[in-house]
Amino acid sequence: MNILVTGGAGYVGSHVVKELLETDQRVITVDNLNKGHREAVLGGEFYHCDLADYQELHKIFSRHEIEAVIHLAADSLVGESVETPHKYYQNNLAAGLNLLEVMLEFSVKKLVFSSTAAVYGEPRNIPIQESDPGEPTNPYGRSKLFYEKILGDYDRAYELKFISLRYFNAAGADTSGQIGEDHDPETHLIPLVLQTALGRRQQLEIYGTDYDTRDGTCIRDYIHITDLARAHILAVEDLEKRDESSIYNLGSGDGFSVREVIDTARKVTGREIPAVPAEKRPGDPPVLIASSEKIREELGWQRCYDDLETIITTAWKWHKNNPEGYRS
Ligand code: UFG
Repeated sequence: MNILVTGGAGYVGSHVVKELLETDQRVITVDNLNKGHREAVLGGEFYHCDLADYQELHKIFSRHEIEAVIHLAADSLVGESVETPHKYYQNNLAAGLNLLEVMLEFSVKKLVFSSTAAVYGEPRNIPIQESDPGEPTNPYGRSKLFYEKILGDYDRAYELKFISLRYFNAAGADTSGQIGEDHDPETHLIPLVLQTALGRRQQLEIYGTDYDTRDGTCIRDYIHITDLARAHILAVEDLEKRDESSIYNLGSGDGFSVREVIDTARKVTGREIPAVPAEKRPGDPPVLIASSEKIREELGWQRCYDDLETIITTAWKWHKNNPEGYRS
């Protein structure tokens, strides 16, 4: 099958591309390289192209008989989205519409979409189920929820079938050590903890220590990036088989606090990792844990990396060997 992956040079995208290559799919990656890394794309065809560039996208679809699209290209920083919403609606919605236009022109009607737990905002229930209301509290989450709604309309009108995967906290790295997480600026907890372990940062700031949780710090659901990537393959296969649109949470179902992450990282790295209490980060819900029952039942998805220590061990291998990320 010829599969187009947008945003394939990013953290999630590069792991999806690697898994696809291992299942012998023909992969065509499109990435504007604003945040992604060319070296992270381990095979297949690569196009340096922005989804806003209709002409170039059209050329790519003419050149390859694309059968399905995995759409990951997006801006994904909550704080930045509050400061520059236009950028988020432009890149995540307008450019995403361009992609849908070209897909329809070429009658490509299978799409796997990279969505987020941010669509739920402050959750009403834990664990969060897909049927819980979508009430995002920032432009990033709204851009993702709007796109899901658009996909629903395109399904009804044009029979474009989609599977939307609402990621919780993607973490860890491929066990080969070839690819991993490299953001600039880095805002995510586990890479920041490991950069502190490496001495690249003096200390980690714990954003809030008086939340109503077991140790006062925020609880999140960390899912290994390879488990997350494999769900995309199952989703493409399911679209092939059942031709039905669905939305799935993609998390582990387990929650760990910021302090538990730091303690586990201390154990894995054998380093001290200084950490100090700091102000809460605006908009951080105290607890986000997914129910991932639906994807287990319907797609047969299973975790291979099911404990935090293993997840952090794979991330540590990447960060230790590539302290400056892909520049190392
Ligand atoms: N944290 C710290 N110190 C840091 C960095 C993070 O204490 O230096 C805390 C955060 O407050 C949060 C937890 O660590 O409680 C995890 O933070 P991340 O930034 O790693 O991840 P988020 O849970 O904020 O973000 C994830 C996804 C987003 C998504 C969001 C939904 O990465 O794409 O969940 O709320 F939008």
